[in-house]
Amino acid sequence: MKLSVSTTERLQGSRVLTTNRHLIRWVEKMADLCRPDAIHWVDGSQDEYDFLCDRLVAAGTFTRLNQELWPGCYYARSAPSDVARVEDRTFICSLSKDGAGPTNNWEDPFVMRRRLKQLFKGCMRGRTMYVLPFSMGPIGSAMSGIGVELTDSPYVVVNMRIMARIGAPVFAEIDKDEKRVVPCVHSVGMPLKPGETDVPWPCNDTKYIVHFPETREIWSYGSGYGGNALLSKKCFALRIASNIARDEGWMAEHMLILGVEDPTGQKTYVAAAFPSACGKTNFAMLIPPKSMPGWKVWTVGDDIAWIRPDANGNLRAINPEAGFFGVAPGTGVKTNPTAMETLSRNSIFTNVALTPDGGVWWEGMTDKPPTECLDWHGEPWTPAIGKQTGRTAAHANGRFTSPASQCATMDPAWESPDGVPISAIIFGGRRSTTLPLVYQAFNWSSGVYIGATMGSETTAAATGAVGKVRRDPMAMLPFCGYHMGDYIRHWLKMQRGLAMTPRVFHVNWFRKDANGKFLWPGFSENMRVLKWIVERVQGHGRGKETAIGWVPRHDDLDWSGLDFPSETFDQLMEVDRAAWKQEVIAHEGLFIELHDHLPPEMIYERELLICRL
Ligand code: OXD
Ligand code: MN
Repeated sequence: MKLSVSTTERLQGSRVLTTNRHLIRWVEKMADLCRPDAIHWVDGSQDEYDFLCDRLVAAGTFTRLNQELWPGCYYARSAPSDVARVEDRTFICSLSKDGAGPTNNWEDPFVMRRRLKQLFKGCMRGRTMYVLPFSMGPIGSAMSGIGVELTDSPYVVVNMRIMARIGAPVFAEIDKDEKRVVPCVHSVGMPLKPGETDVPWPCNDTKYIVHFPETREIWSYGSGYGGNALLSKKCFALRIASNIARDEGWMAEHMLILGVEDPTGQKTYVAAAFPSACGKTNFAMLIPPKSMPGWKVWTVGDDIAWIRPDANGNLRAINPEAGFFGVAPGTGVKTNPTAMETLSRNSIFTNVALTPDGGVWWEGMTDKPPTECLDWHGEPWTPAIGKQTGRTAAHANGRFTSPASQCATMDPAWESPDGVPISAIIFGGRRSTTLPLVYQAFNWSSGVYIGATMGSETTAAATGAVGKVRRDPMAMLPFCGYHMGDYIRHWLKMQRGLAMTPRVFHVNWFRKDANGKFLWPGFSENMRVLKWIVERVQGHGRGKETAIGWVPRHDDLDWSGLDFPSETFDQLMEVDRAAWKQEVIAHEGLFIELHDHLPPEMIYERELLICRL
C-alpha cells in the first residue's frame, strides 16, 4: 500500500513487518496524530531486546545489575508520582453510562475521543513509536487473543517481551487471514523539543487509562508503570477481554491457575481469585511442607485466567500471559523460593532497592537487610535510617518482571493450546476478622454470591488508602470492563451449559487474633487447605455444614508435621453470627449500588444466608 510521504519518512530504519492493510493504515493514522520521530516494528528478537536495554541504560532508565550475581537483569526507578495503577484515572467509555455501571469511571466516548485526540496530538515528538504485536495465550490457539500496542516507551517494549508472546510470529499470525486485533495506544505523554534531553522516567501528571468496549480499543496516556502501560495485562486481558468473553460465552478472570498433584499422580486444577497483592503469586508457586510427601503444586498462571467450556461442557483455562509482574516486597527465600529462583536471571526490577554490589533488595527478600543500599528514590538507605524515618527501601508496589518459562514449577501443560480442566474455583481476600480460613459454597449460585460479595483490605497495588475493606466482586472491581451486575449475571449463566460444575471455595490466610497477630502461618501450610479442597472436589473430603457453607473440622485437615492446636483452629474457623450479620449488612451496600442490574439469585442467596444466621 502507499503511505503518505511524512509517514514513509518516519518508517525509515525499520522494516514494516506486516502485510495487514488495516494494521498498516491504523499505524499510519496514529503516527500522523502522535508525530513520532521514528517508527520501530518490533520483531521480538533477543538482539532487539539487547539493543533496547542498551538504549535504556544509556538513557539512565536502566541500571545493568552485576551480571555475575544477576545475569541478564536490569533495574529501574520510576518517577515518584508514577508507581501504581491509577484507578481514579481509568475509564470505561461504553456508548451508554449504564453499560459501564456504577463501579467504573465513565465518560461519553465522543467526548473522550475528542479529549484523547488533543492529548495525543504530537505527544511522541522526539521519540520512537514502537509497533508491538502481542498474543495473549499460545500463538495460534483458539483460546488466545491478539493485540497491537503502539508505545513510545522502550521500557514497555522490553517488559512486554517478558510478559507476553510478541514480535514476528505474532505479525505472521495477524497476516494469516487478516485477523482482528485489539488496537492499544500508549504514550508516556512527554514529547521532547528538538535538542531537549530526556529524563530517566518520562511521564505526565495528567493520566488517562481509557477503554472503548464496543470498538475494543485501549488508549493510555501519561504513565509508564505496570498495568497503566503494559496494556496486554489489565487493559486487554481483563477489561476488554471481559467484554469479549461476555459476548462470546466465556470468562476473563483475575485468577491464578494451579494444578495439585496428589501422591497417586492424579492432578486437579483450580483457579483462584484474590485481589491485587494478596499473595496470588505465592499461592501459584506453593511448595508443600516436607511432611506432606507426594503432594506437588504446578503453576499455570499467577494473575489472569481465560476460561471457557470445551465441546464436552467442561471448563478449561489458559494463562494468557508469558511472565510474572510480581510484587517484590514480601517475596523471599523463605516465603517463595520458586519465585526467587525464577527472578534470579533475565528479569527487570522496578522501584526496589539497589545494593552496593550491584544487586537488588526489598523488604522480605531476606531476614537481614543489607547494611546500606540506595532506596527506590535513589537515596542512601540503612536499616537505621529506615527505623528512624519509617521509610522502606523498596516501594510497597515495587515489582519484578520475569519469564514464566524460568519458573521451576511451571506445569507441563501451561502452554497447551487447549488449556487445563478447572475443577474448583477459590475466592479469597485479605480479612483480619470474620472470614474463616476456608469454607465451601453449597452450590454454584451460593458460590457466585460468595465471589460477588468478596471483601478485601486494600493494598499498595493501586493508588489510594491502604488497609480499608472494600467489596471487590471476584477480585474484578478494578478490572471488569462492563456493569458489575451484568458480570455477576454472566457468572450465573456460565454454569447452565456445563456438564461438570466446578466446586466453589473461599479462603482467608489473613485472620488475626485480638492482639493483631496472624492466626494462620500461611505459605507452605496453605497446602493443607488445598488438600482439603481437592478432597472435597473428588468427593471424599469430610466437613461440617455451617450457616455460611461447608467447613473442615480440625480432624478433617492433614496436620502431619504441624502442631496446630485445635483451640487456635476453632478461633481461625469461627463463624461469629454477630460479625456475620454486620458482614451481610456490608454486602447490602454493593447490592444497592448494582441493584437494577443485579440478578435475583443474589437477593435470594442473601435472604437464605440471613435466615441461616
Ligand atoms: C497486578 C495487580 O499487577 O493486580 O497484577 O495490580
Ligand atoms: Mn493482578
